[in-house]
Amino acid sequence: MDIYEALYTTRMMRRLRPDPIPLDTQARILDAAVRAPNGGNTQRWHFLAVDDPKLKGQLAQLFRQARAVEYEKFSSGMGPMAVAAPGVDPTAHAENMRRIKGSGNYLADHFEEIPLLFFVFAIDDLGGANIYPAIWSALLAARAEGVGGVMTMVLRNCEDKVNELLGVPVEEGWKMSAMLALGYPRGRWGVAANRLPVQEVSSRNHWDAPFGVEVPQPLWPPQDGTETVLTAVG
Ligand SMILES: Cc1cc2nc3c(=O)[nH]c(=O)nc-3n(C[C@H](O)[C@H](O)[C@H](O)COP(=O)(O)O)c2cc1C
Repeated sequence: MDIYEALYTTRMMRRLRPDPIPLDTQARILDAAVRAPNGGNTQRWHFLAVDDPKLKGQLAQLFRQARAVEYEKFSSGMGPMAVAAPGVDPTAHAENMRRIKGSGNYLADHFEEIPLLFFVFAIDDLGGANIYPAIWSALLAARAEGVGGVMTMVLRNCEDKVNELLGVPVEEGWKMSAMLALGYPRGRWGVAANRLPVQEVSSRNHWDAPFGVEVPQPLWPPQDGTETVLTAVG
């Protein structure tokens, strides 16, 4: 798969089929993930795969509880999802959150059917910086394998219980960074077009100065098989 296709179409997929993901596919996903950059190449990461139905059932209960806590925070204006980026219309943000919640409801309601969970642990992940490259590599590799998924963090709302269930040696400093829910998607892959364009989130040499070029639409896939000609501005 072309790397740009993977980068543009690795959407978060929450509607997943229960079909198992073969072990060699799982191995390719993690083998790609461990190639990711990490500070000092200390590789203080651990990927814990969960596919045991009983364990998934227990985690499903926790996931639904943790999600309720997250949306409680959200409705009282707290938590990372509550506030739109500066300059972004709050109504559009609310609509976006409504859509994500709907999709998340499906994931929560069908949690037991998710064929594979990857719990990602790290020691001192530097606010995520030291582990997100590996997580993103895993999701991109999964995309190349036709496997979809979503990165979730809500289970951190009840991480003590999760650590206990999974036997995590927390005394060594391991902390859950995220949980990836993986499976073959029910829907189709599409370009993540719901992003602010480059010129609205970038600048050059000074915060208020234009980046220098406008990108009117996603540059992949090339329109009519030709590359979009970009106009310099500013
Ligand atoms: C740090 C982080 C935490 C996230 N946590 C969750 C989560 O707990 N549950 C969920 O359904 N999606 C979660 N997501 C996925 C985002 O909702 C998703 O990336 C965003 O809505 C854009 O979706 P798209 O790439 O499909 O357009 C998380 C993503 C990141 C980067």
